Amino acid sequence: MAGAVKCRIGIVGAGNVAARHAQVLGGFADVRIAGVADTDGPRAERLAAAHGAPVYDGHKAMLEDAALDAVYVCVPPFAHGPIELDVLDAGLALFVEKPLALDEETALTVAGAARRRGVVTAVGHHWRYLDVVAEARRLLGDRPVRLALGVWLDKVPPVPWWTRRDGSGGQVIEQAVHVLDLARLLVGEVAEVCAHESGHPPDREEGAVGAATGALLRFRGGAGGILGATCLLGWKHRAGLEVYAEGIALELSENRLVADTGEGRREVADPGDAKRRVDRAFVDAVMGRADDVRAPYEEALRTHRLACAVARAATSGAPVTVEEGP
Ligand SMILES: NC(=O)c1ccc[n+]([C@@H]2O[C@H](COP(=O)([O-])OP(=O)(O)OC[C@H]3O[C@@H](n4cnc5c(N)ncnc54)[C@H](O)[C@@H]3O)[C@@H](O)[C@H]2O)c1
Repeated sequence: MAGAVKCRIGIVGAGNVAARHAQVLGGFADVRIAGVADTDGPRAERLAAAHGAPVYDGHKAMLEDAALDAVYVCVPPFAHGPIELDVLDAGLALFVEKPLALDEETALTVAGAARRRGVVTAVGHHWRYLDVVAEARRLLGDRPVRLALGVWLDKVPPVPWWTRRDGSGGQVIEQAVHVLDLARLLVGEVAEVCAHESGHPPDREEGAVGAATGALLRFRGGAGGILGATCLLGWKHRAGLEVYAEGIALELSENRLVADTGEGRREVADPGDAKRRVDRAFVDAVMGRADDVRAPYEEALRTHRLACAVARAATSGAPVTVEEGP
């Protein structure tokens, strides 16, 4: 590939998920990591050094100085908004890690700007690239799902901002959003949600995220859904979605699908390539080679609005109508 055109990518936020994307992107012969920016200087330096990239103490300096085709925004939920708007203002393609923001308003503003700019966008809903999801869709065929049961049963992630409601937005917005995205894909849009939240993680102050959430979802197509999430465990216990339609039961997780059609349970392991595919699809779209971005910003906005509706229902105790369309 010497001399071949490379996709020049800048990364904002140099934490855990940025390191993962950088490792994947660094393995693509047609990509150059052309800048890393983080408000935490040493973190930015470490990631930049690992990939031979220039380092910046903020995204504005990177956008001014580095010649880029696209930017990955890998910051915590509270930091979304201004970065995306500056990236779009520069006319660059945009990859955003989920969740889109702490709230709905920020994401709606960014979606509007992305629509006006017409650039390639993608969001890190890599579950959409799981082979087991494709297999689940194939097995369902045109049978409408009548019941969906989603869970995210986990520990508190080891990042300082996560337990603050004004840092992460809470577990549904921050983590269970993957399950809600899958539910939208397999079942359809949700019309209304009710939810209840219980307590806080141990040793956390008031203003912390909820320790457990139970939600009831009414899908527009008539299906019922239940979502359960907790961060009270010391380990990741289970995260996934079960769907039921006439004569078929499917249990999906990031690693496997268990399917039962009454002739015995069949288990399919996922090959584990989704986290590479989500980056490959974005780069190919930016380079104009293919069009397989499965969660552009506008699509992820619908999932984010659903997660925000569940979070709002859980804190208010009142049913929340999910707005139709962006
Ligand atoms: N799709 C997935 O599978 C997946 C996996 C892990 C994390 N994530 C998501 O990625 C996001 C980041 O998670 P993480 O674990 O990498 O967090 P992290 O705390 O390890 O890293 C975030 C980085 O962003 C930096 N930052 C904060 N504000 C900034 C700003 N204004 N400008 C530049 N840098 C800024 C921080 O200094 C930190 O280095 C979270 O929203 C998380 O949900 C997604």
